[in-house]
Parts: sequence; structure tokens; C-alpha cells
Amino acid sequence: MTANAAERIQHEGLRAKIMSAEQAAEFVQNGMTVAISGFTGAGYPKALPTAIAERAKAAHARGEAFAIGMITGASTAPECDGVLAAANCVSFRNPFQSDPGIRNSINAGNIAYQDMHLSHVEQQMRQGFYGDFDMAIIEASGITADGKIIPAMGIGHCNEALKAAKKVIIEVNAAQNAKLEGMHDVAYDIGVPPHRQPIPITGPFDRIGSPYLECDLNKIVAVVLTSSGDRNSKFADPDDNSKRIAAQIIDFFSHEVKAGRLPKNLLPLQSGVGNVANAVLAGLLDAPFDDLTGYTEVLQDGMLDLIIAGKMKSASATALSFSPDALQRFNDNIEFLRDKIILRPMEYTNNPEVIRRLGIIGMNAMIEADIYGNVNSTHVMGTKMMNGIGGSGDFTRNAFFSFFVSPSVAKDGAISCIVPMVSHHDHTEHDVMFIVTEQGMADLRGKSPRQRAKLIINNCAHPEYRDQLNDYFNRAEKAGGLHTPHLLLEALSWHQRFVETGDMRIK
Ligand code: COA
Repeated sequence: MTANAAERIQHEGLRAKIMSAEQAAEFVQNGMTVAISGFTGAGYPKALPTAIAERAKAAHARGEAFAIGMITGASTAPECDGVLAAANCVSFRNPFQSDPGIRNSINAGNIAYQDMHLSHVEQQMRQGFYGDFDMAIIEASGITADGKIIPAMGIGHCNEALKAAKKVIIEVNAAQNAKLEGMHDVAYDIGVPPHRQPIPITGPFDRIGSPYLECDLNKIVAVVLTSSGDRNSKFADPDDNSKRIAAQIIDFFSHEVKAGRLPKNLLPLQSGVGNVANAVLAGLLDAPFDDLTGYTEVLQDGMLDLIIAGKMKSASATALSFSPDALQRFNDNIEFLRDKIILRPMEYTNNPEVIRRLGIIGMNAMIEADIYGNVNSTHVMGTKMMNGIGGSGDFTRNAFFSFFVSPSVAKDGAISCIVPMVSHHDHTEHDVMFIVTEQGMADLRGKSPRQRAKLIINNCAHPEYRDQLNDYFNRAEKAGGLHTPHLLLEALSWHQRFVETGDMRIK
């Protein structure tokens, strides 16, 4: 054991359980349901997945079955999802992923994937919807002398995983900043209906729990030492489209502040995953709003920079998912950031009760929207899973303002992100308040479907697709059914045309 690792594990009994990842992987058996930490490329185990994958490959070589059901907080990384997908040893996966290997296996029908609202994960684990949890594999940044677990860069579902699992393996990662200790806020168990308790968060930065995760120490069968960083994917620099999208949202905020409908420091901001959502936050750096707050799921570069620049006074999230440069800025400024960032279990960050109470401004990216304001966040051409709904539904349905952002076209214009009918519904017309592309914004509040269609087509669609969309809409109106006009046999023909010809445009 290195001196560094010794410092990280202060509990004598747990020090005695230190072993190699290969030894610890022996506890993982074919057919197990395993809760694995990890949320948007942060806080996932770095060594066990490879050791499990090797076990699976050896079993497969002997002609034996070896696969596990895998429930994480959200997406992990190549060293976790990637290696397990490559070893063909994941039979079931939920609630969110973004790994190319896992995605391909899902779309090839080899992994049964349940794409679900992240706020549901912990309560459904607790309520036994997935049966027994055989194992939890959790990354930590340390263990205290009394056996409390100091989480790493994300919490996700760890709180519930530690309670639900029969056995636990902890990976203690010495590469995680030791000063993370104290940044987390793990609340008490809110229980199951009919005895569930309210969550006492009335401000975005309220602390309601303890900085540590806890579990029955007798369940911990192994402690594995690692020392490597999180995924730390780089974000694309905001391009012109993202900047235009950001500028419109910021203009809208100014307008609402002037009209007295938003406080000067806005309301707590939630920003979804992806380049565009991150760019919107980058746009707020130069906007005339101060003392901003964040109540989000994943804190990415954009929000970190707002805090460091003094524009945002606090942010609450379940994970920190930074590019390599932003990670450096986080580590350089950790003393300053320690009382400005709270990391909570995902059951609290994404909880509809809290989101509705705080009045969150939710901003999420989408794959496509239709002319009536239904949004598809997850499926390409209606069938292929991209990542998953993540927390976008938790925030959208309960937000004070719900925005969906996207460039108006994808794949060099061959795909319109505004279509007659979405090829998969994640967010309905009842939840979506604003659609924003680089072309413009559609404010859908208080509008009927036909009023919304005119706004979405003429404000948000790319000019190359506007005539085509208006033509569809006009003919649908003539066909009758004047609440939500559709030509049912034609409504999904744009997607079919793309599948057949590689282009949605009628040429
Ligand atoms: N049809 C097909 N592909 C499309 C598309 C469409 N309508 N719109 C975008 N794409 C493709 C892009 O071409 C790009 O492909 P590439 O990776 O091969 O270049 C990819 O989707 C990502 O598009 P991009 O515009 O860069 O968006 P993004 O990085 O902002 O991600 C989502 C967009 C929707 C995939 C992403 O935000 C997501 O997974 N959202 C769901 C989960 C979520 O919202 N969580 C937040 C809760 S806190």
C-alpha cells in the first residue's frame, strides 16, 4: 500500500480488506445484479470493470455464460461501460449511458436497456423493483477512521446502492482531490409511500444531510486502491449556432427580468448534458446577471466558470463532469469552491418536489422537436438509442421555464431537427415551454397546437425546411382534425426518407 492510499483509508478494519481488483472481481458472479457508481463520466470505478471483463472473457472462452445486470447513476466511461461492453458481459443496463460500445450493443439487441427518469432510480431500487442487489461497486475518494465513505466526483445512486446491496466493494481513488471531503450532502432516507417524508430543501444551497456515505461495514468484502482520473471529455468550443442559441435565451431572461417576472439573479439554473447546453452557460459569463444559482444534475465547465468568475454564487449537483482544463481550474480553486458547490444523491438533485418548489430554469438539448412542441431526446430515427432521457424529463415537467435547444439541422443539413411528428416522444407538448435553435425561439406558453406550429416552423426551422414544413401543416389543416392537424401516413415520412435516401429534403 502506498503512503497516499494509506492516508485515504483510515479505518483499520477496512484497510485489512485491501486487495487487487482481480481478487475483488472474484466476488462478482454470472447473473448478478450489480449497482455500479458513476454519473456522467465521474465517480465510476476505474479498476473493477476491467477485472470483471477479464473474468467474463475467460468464462466465455471456457464456453460458460458470464453476464451481469448493471445499474449506474448515469453514464460512465470507456474503463467501465466500454470494457464491459467489449467483453459482452452486460445483460441488462439502466438508467442512462453514452458509451459507443454499450450503445451499439443496445441497438444490436444484445443488452436489454431501460431508459428511465433519473429521479426514479433510487426510489425504485429501494422499493425492490429490480429484485435483490447482489453487489455494489462504489468509487470513493477516501474512508474515514469510523468507516464513513467520502464520495468522489459524483454521488448519483451510491446512497441507495450501499443500502440495497448484499455485498460492497469500494474503490478508493487516490487521484481524486482529498479536499472533496465536505462538499457532499447525503441526506437521510426519505422512505417509501405511504410514509415518505418531504425533502426539506427550500433554497438551492440548503444542506440537509452529512458529507459522507454510510453502509454496514460487514457488507464490505473488498477495498481496491486506484489512482486515475475521471473521463474528463473535452467540450467543443461554442460554435456560432450555440452562441446564437445562448444569446436568445439570455435576451429572453433580460426581458423577463424587466417585466418583473424573473428576479434579477434569475432562478436556479439547470443545464443538461452536451455541447449546446454547456455553451448556453458559457454565454451567461458576459450577461448582465449576478448572484446566479445552479440546481442541476451535472455541473460541467460552463457552470464551474460562472462560479469562478463570481457570477454564480452557488451550485448544487450530483456530479462534476469536467474537461481536462476545467478539472485543472476546479483543483486550482478548490478552497474557493468548497463552500459554493454541493454534491447530493440524484434522488435529491432531480426530485420533482424540489424542482417545482425552487422554480428551476431547465435548459436541455434535444435530438428533434415536432411542429407541436413534442420533443425527442433519445432516439435517432425513432429506433436507435442515443444516450437516454437522463434528468431532462425530471426537470422539464417540473421547471418554472423549460427550454429545449438544438441546431435546426444535423448532418450537414440532411436532417431537420424540426419535423412534422417526432419519431419518439420523451417530452410532451404539455411540458415543453420554449424551443430554441440558431434560427430563433418559439415561446409556446399559452398557445394552442396550431399557434405553436406556426411559431416553431417560422421561428425555429431552418429556412431550407420551412416551405416543406408549412406545406405539410397547410395540407394537414385542409384534411380536417383542426386541433392538432396531422397527415398520419405522412407524419413520419421525413424519417423514412432519411433512412432510404440519407436526406430529409424533398428534392
Ligand atoms: N437526428 C439524428 N442525429 C442527430 C439529430 C437528429 N435530429 N440531432 C443531432 N444529431 C446528432 C448530431 O449530428 C451529433 O452526432 P455526431 O456525434 O455523430 O456528430 C449528435 O447527435 C449530438 O448532437 P449535438 O448537436 O452535438 O448535441 P449535444 O452534444 O448537445 O447532445 C443530445 C444532444 C440530445 C444527444 C444530448 O443532450 C442528450 O443525450 N440528451 C438527453 C439526456 C439529457 O438531456 N440529460 C440532461 C439532463 S440533466
